[in-house]
Amino acid sequence: PKAGPLTGRRIIVTSGPTHEPIDPVRYIANRSSGKQGHALAGALARLGADVHLVSGPVTIPDPQGVKTLHVETAREMQAAVESLLPADAAIFVAAVADWRTESEAGQKIKKIAGEGPPALQMVENPDILAGVGHHKKRPYLVVGFAAETREVEQNATFKLKKKGADFIVANDVSHEGGVMGGDRNRVAIVSKDGIDRWPDLTKEETAERLANLIAERLRTVTV
Ligand code: C5P
Repeated sequence: PKAGPLTGRRIIVTSGPTHEPIDPVRYIANRSSGKQGHALAGALARLGADVHLVSGPVTIPDPQGVKTLHVETAREMQAAVESLLPADAAIFVAAVADWRTESEAGQKIKKIAGEGPPALQMVENPDILAGVGHHKKRPYLVVGFAAETREVEQNATFKLKKKGADFIVANDVSHEGGVMGGDRNRVAIVSKDGIDRWPDLTKEETAERLANLIAERLRTVTV
């Protein structure tokens, strides 16, 4: 990586969705494209950071100048993130599936006439951000994203404390906005100091502003 304000800083970024298998051919997923997380990883690398991206299944290419690990499930993402600690900062952009099925069927679940649909027993996935936010090797800076369809900022404020994050990047992913999968984003930065509302920007522009904010927060820290 080239020299810049983040030279010598090790930063973990998660991006994309996770896929939670139901059986060998089916999975639970969400509409995350990975565009925002991958753009942020690239922008941090351009500022000189040693960036480790942990990506769920996406169709976009690995960003340049970044070390990318590919995972599928939430539990794989958690193991990858924890294996990358310690780090100076960790930024959790991934849209991690909240639930998975309790077990993965070894064979394709058959549709049997007259039996009706299978009852899928769901269990909660680990919260990767909360785990790192309260970790004994907690990075100096821990940042979460909050994709909400309602009460965006109130939900982000609540998550800040619950997950042990320094700030939460809140965005509205209600259908009208077209954020999930789209190229634009409008975020608010929620921290203990209050709420900073950014204008509607491309995900690349949002990534650059976020990378600068992260550089600013790490500037005075000696780790
Ligand atoms: O609770 P919610 O999913 O809205 O929180 C969003 C933030 O928490 C994001 O930064 C996301 O990457 C992170 N998260 C996580 N592991 C989960 C759920 C969310 O790291 N299981």
